[in-house]
Amino acid sequence: MSSQIVVLGSCMIDFVSYSPRLPKKGETLKGTSFVTNQGGKGANQCMSAAKLGGNVALIARVGDDHFGKEYIEVLKSYSVDVTHTRLTPNYSSGIAQIMVDESVGDNSIVIVPGANDALSLEDLHQAEELLANAGILVCQLETPLNVTLQALRHFKGTSILNGAPAIQDIDVDFLKLATIFCVNETEAATVTGLNCENLDEAKIALRKLLSMGCNTVILTLGDKGAIIGFKGDQNITHVSCDKVTPVDTTGAGDCFIGSLAFLMAKFPDLNLEDHVKIACALASYSVQFMGTHKAFPDSNILRKYLQ
Ligand code: RIB
Repeated sequence: MSSQIVVLGSCMIDFVSYSPRLPKKGETLKGTSFVTNQGGKGANQCMSAAKLGGNVALIARVGDDHFGKEYIEVLKSYSVDVTHTRLTPNYSSGIAQIMVDESVGDNSIVIVPGANDALSLEDLHQAEELLANAGILVCQLETPLNVTLQALRHFKGTSILNGAPAIQDIDVDFLKLATIFCVNETEAATVTGLNCENLDEAKIALRKLLSMGCNTVILTLGDKGAIIGFKGDQNITHVSCDKVTPVDTTGAGDCFIGSLAFLMAKFPDLNLEDHVKIACALASYSVQFMGTHKAFPDSNILRKYLQ
């Protein structure tokens, strides 16, 4: 399998406010700090794989503005192939307003996609050769859905679809086409319409996802690790992970997906359970630090976990 990873997805500029708790409806709350970071699920996943040492390319759109130009430079500085990460005239870069409850690290996010909405089938067409030679495709649901669907339809390698942001009444073709469908508890609840608040409920939700057409499902459970299930197999494997004190969980799911893609590309002889176990540990590492890219582990940290 080629070790080339292609991420098709979003770039956002994250405007992040930290406060002692999340505000209630209609409430104004005094925060403690504010930062601007590069984010977006697609680019976060790409950066996570790149920081670990992956061979990664990003198919994405940013605005033809200061934010977009700066984002491309940051990606380049981590050796991401940005040939297909395009500046988009007449669009502003996508943004995310993020509030982080610093007491537990939880967050709430509102995105305004901007240039991400301009990602089109033409972008896929231009990246045809890259996609044809890649071993792993990673995508999410933050960019135009028809483009993601088309990429999944034509991709010949292993595809990982992160079902985020979650969609109620998702077109089942997404589930059927992806080699691996990966969601967290909240997203699994939205897609299946089932409660997913504990391990038993999560297992039921995972079985429902398989019955809806998924081939392999990874359902992440925060500090409880993840569960894995395969089409036609009644067994569900639970992978646990070490407890840490979370400071900021923003992008932890992206760190998991990027790490998973990297591990699958770099260590194809390990089984999926081992890939998930290490990816969980790397995502847990990231929640102990503020922000996204800065919090993601690099190859030195990975070495410690591999030992
Ligand atoms: O998953 C976290 C990401 O979601 C943030 O970086 C934000 O940009 C949104 O896309």
